[in-house]
Amino acid sequence: MDETWTLSAGWALPEVITTLPGPRGISLVDVLARHECPGITARRARQGEARGLGKDPITWVRAAGANVWDADGNRFVDLTAGFGVASIGHTHPAVVAAITAQATTLLHGMGDVFPNDRRIALMAALARRATFAGGAALSQCILTGGGAEAVEVALKTAALASGRPGVIAFSASYHGLSYGALAATAYKEDFRAPFSAQLGQHVRHLPFGCAPEVVAAALEDGVVGAILVEPIQGRGGEVVPPPGWLGALRELCDRHRAILIFDEIFTGFGRTGAWWACEHEGVIPDVMAVGKSLAGGLPLGAAVARPEVMRAWGMSKGEAIHTSTFLGNPIVAAAALATLEVMEAIDLPRRARDFEAATRAYFEPRGITVRGRGGMLGLELGSPGRAARVMGSTLKRGFLTLPSGVAGDVLGLTPPLMLSDAQRRAAFDAIAASMEEADE
Ligand SMILES: Cc1ncc(COP(=O)(O)O)c(C=O)c1O
Repeated sequence: MDETWTLSAGWALPEVITTLPGPRGISLVDVLARHECPGITARRARQGEARGLGKDPITWVRAAGANVWDADGNRFVDLTAGFGVASIGHTHPAVVAAITAQATTLLHGMGDVFPNDRRIALMAALARRATFAGGAALSQCILTGGGAEAVEVALKTAALASGRPGVIAFSASYHGLSYGALAATAYKEDFRAPFSAQLGQHVRHLPFGCAPEVVAAALEDGVVGAILVEPIQGRGGEVVPPPGWLGALRELCDRHRAILIFDEIFTGFGRTGAWWACEHEGVIPDVMAVGKSLAGGLPLGAAVARPEVMRAWGMSKGEAIHTSTFLGNPIVAAAALATLEVMEAIDLPRRARDFEAATRAYFEPRGITVRGRGGMLGLELGSPGRAARVMGSTLKRGFLTLPSGVAGDVLGLTPPLMLSDAQRRAAFDAIAASMEEADE
């Protein structure tokens, strides 16, 4: 693949030319305020108050590479990759070309009843990608509409394969917010509390990284059939578990004939410097939930598993017991096929490792602890809520960042992994200045 072509757009420095948001952004947020449930997009400005001045969100209208433009023509550098999705950059030309070609060919398929050719090709490509050193392969999958559904399908697969309903998950874990996934998510009590009476009681949460004996004791009850874990926690604050811990979970699952599920939705596809975060520890799960960057910006997830495990679903009798109207949508599958090709052509894991090295080289000598791995890093800010202030300050400078960690004391950095050197250097200077400003 031609490197200059892939790098041709979206690698500019920020340019902020209005207040944030500017007048067009404010009028769009007014419409949002009238028509979106108030619980969704954070807006601090209230009717009748002075507007703008960072109180309302900017509205995205265009993006390319690492750049995002808002409704007022301000240009930003996105250090979040839009929640870790745009690993190869926003609107990558190869992905756009694949979507455009597919749009005139076949837009919609017919789920589990009639497969479409793009869905078939994608599942074969996913199986290749989920083949580990030594040949073990998670070569069968169920495609889903996003991450939370992928987690739910992984949990259903584990329940069928183990014959036991209990699940062990971990503190500060984030697995999504639909009911099945929310039962396993521990990230914030606020997310669970209003619905707790409707959440399945089959999940037991243990401390992330706890002593293996604690997990072993929980497995003794004979009810637990699965362990669900992020191999590196994402929203929980870029937390790497102790060395050997994932291997200990693997051994415990083998001993108790339980299914080991890795939620690689955030960490997968090169983000942490290896194709899968579990490869850092040489541990292979039975099932993996994947999503986010897989389709280059379109919604897609999958549960991928070893065929012996997937066999537990039995043969379809004509009506799949897990499916949906848009299962394996051809346009999304075409985007994913193009994305996987680009990821391999540009060696995404190497770019993630380079980003980690540059980030550590900049921040560690300044006394700032960097955690996480590859292109999924967190800067420790030391006090609760400080990340939100730093985020506001980086936004004014034209850089999009997100707080992470349960206490909001970590600034997450999960950029497109082809960030240019100039963008990266400017971003680091902006973050350092924002940290000082947040202290004033
Ligand atoms: C590790 C992990 N699992 C699951 C999810 C849920 O994915 P989605 O938001 O696509 O439902 C996320 C989203 O941030 C995630 O980071």
